[in-house]
Amino acid sequence: MSLPHKTSRDVIFQGYFIKRGTIVFPLLTSVLYDESEWESPHTFNPSHFLDKEGKFIRRDAFMPFSAGRRVCLGESLAKMELFLFFTTLLQRFRFTPPPAVTEDDLDLTPAVGFVLSPSPHELCAVSRQ
Ligand code: HEM
Repeated sequence: MSLPHKTSRDVIFQGYFIKRGTIVFPLLTSVLYDESEWESPHTFNPSHFLDKEGKFIRRDAFMPFSAGRRVCLGESLAKMELFLFFTTLLQRFRFTPPPAVTEDDLDLTPAVGFVLSPSPHELCAVSRQ
């Protein structure tokens, strides 16, 4: 979900009349789960962001920071932090499920709230050195 906004004037959006002063909750899932945009929108699939040669590709439908004039102000900071955080961890460790648990046993269903958060998991961090 994006942040709620109030319309500052009467709006006609996709044929619907929205009166001035209406609180609108934009659902980012409408694009993040769009089956006409993603090969497997309900599955964790990093290949969504790779071309045939395995190189990174930008996808216009990937907009977790929303879009337009009120787009997240912290987008570049958040992306840089996530990049540093995950590359530092992944360069030093290999992450696996605990012994006796297979990858298929892992339940990747998110916890539903204002945002979708991963549910807690136990895992092993195996040093790469
Ligand atoms: C993964 C991390 C983050 C995500 C997914 C995220 C996502 C969002 C979304 C969806 C909005 C609503 C945009 C809209 O109203 O259309 C928003 C707004 C905002 N975010 Fe973030 N955000 C993240 C991190 C951050 C960080 C690190 C900061 C600041 C250091 C930040 C500051 C803001 C501010 C100030 C707004 C309000 C912008 C406005 O209304 O003009 N966000 N964010």
